[in-house]
Amino acid sequence: MPLLDEIEPLKQSALAELQASPDLGALEQTRVSYLGSHGKFTSLLKQLGSLPKEEKPAAGKAVNAAKVALEAALARRREELELRASLPSEPTDFTLPGRRRPLGKLHPLTQVTEDIVRSFRKIGFVVADGPEVEDEYHCFDALNTPADHPARDTQDTFYISSPSAPAPADRSSSTIDPRPSTLLRTHTSSVQIRVMEKQKPPVRIIVPGRVYRRDNADATHNPTFQQVEGLYVDRNVTVSDLKGTVEFVFKDIMGPETRIRFRPHYFSYTEPSFEIDFSSALTKRMGKEWLEIAGCGMVHPQVFENVGYDPEVWTGWAFGFGIERIAMIRYGINDIRLFYQNDLRFLRQF
Ligand code: DAH
Repeated sequence: MPLLDEIEPLKQSALAELQASPDLGALEQTRVSYLGSHGKFTSLLKQLGSLPKEEKPAAGKAVNAAKVALEAALARRREELELRASLPSEPTDFTLPGRRRPLGKLHPLTQVTEDIVRSFRKIGFVVADGPEVEDEYHCFDALNTPADHPARDTQDTFYISSPSAPAPADRSSSTIDPRPSTLLRTHTSSVQIRVMEKQKPPVRIIVPGRVYRRDNADATHNPTFQQVEGLYVDRNVTVSDLKGTVEFVFKDIMGPETRIRFRPHYFSYTEPSFEIDFSSALTKRMGKEWLEIAGCGMVHPQVFENVGYDPEVWTGWAFGFGIERIAMIRYGINDIRLFYQNDLRFLRQF
């Protein structure tokens, strides 16, 4: 048979075979048997050389066209089979339950903070914010706690070197206290000052936030911890407003049987000042009737002076407490360091 007549039947049988190849393996075998180095089509190509000169161009053209067509059909079939191989072999059951991904949770301190904030919002407080890197003025001086005040020692903290911060004049020649005036805030009370500097009274804020102290970590201390500050300024504010508010919030977050007690205390930015004790089934579980949980008092007139509020017109109260302490009492946790170790066995319990 002349070579030219062999081309078309061979092409047709190749097309039929590759179309019938059930999978990628069979398809590859088909390819090799036609287009491989010993394939039927390849041998046709090899025979071109032995044709008489005048038949060569037509035969060559026809063989090449057939080869191109075969290769294209091969590629299409390969794509088809690849797609089929990537599909699931069994029919999908759309009634099966979905795969559940484990959901993260809020940290217990975040949960407690949110509860406290929610409770204060019910009675008209808004959340305020301030910098954790503070200056001494907002952290101490403006709160009526001057440089030589003993209360400053108990709140010693991390001072941040800042060569650009000018040393206060009375310190520049001193070798005793060369610290720059930028520090990590020791309490959220600094935010009282920042808010009052910016805003006219009345003020009704709470300030949850991180604070720092130069404390060695033990079961009840951590060099960083969290506080909530509260500040209320208006005309004719009294201690009974303070007591009523504290009682409302603690009953709300710690249970209705909670009792509150004020003990006289000293803070330089409040006068009179108190410590707040609370008692509930939770404190009894810890073997105590009363547990101290917060400091508070009526805002000192000097603090009002410092922010430009007239102390003859404005009155107010403030408080501050540690969130870890509340969380420890609430959940019966005996070591504050657990909050900061990120151990999932601990965190999953809340
Ligand atoms: N700043 C105090 C502390 O860190 C807590 C505190 C006490 C805040 C009395 C107040 C307050 O606003 O009036 O221990």
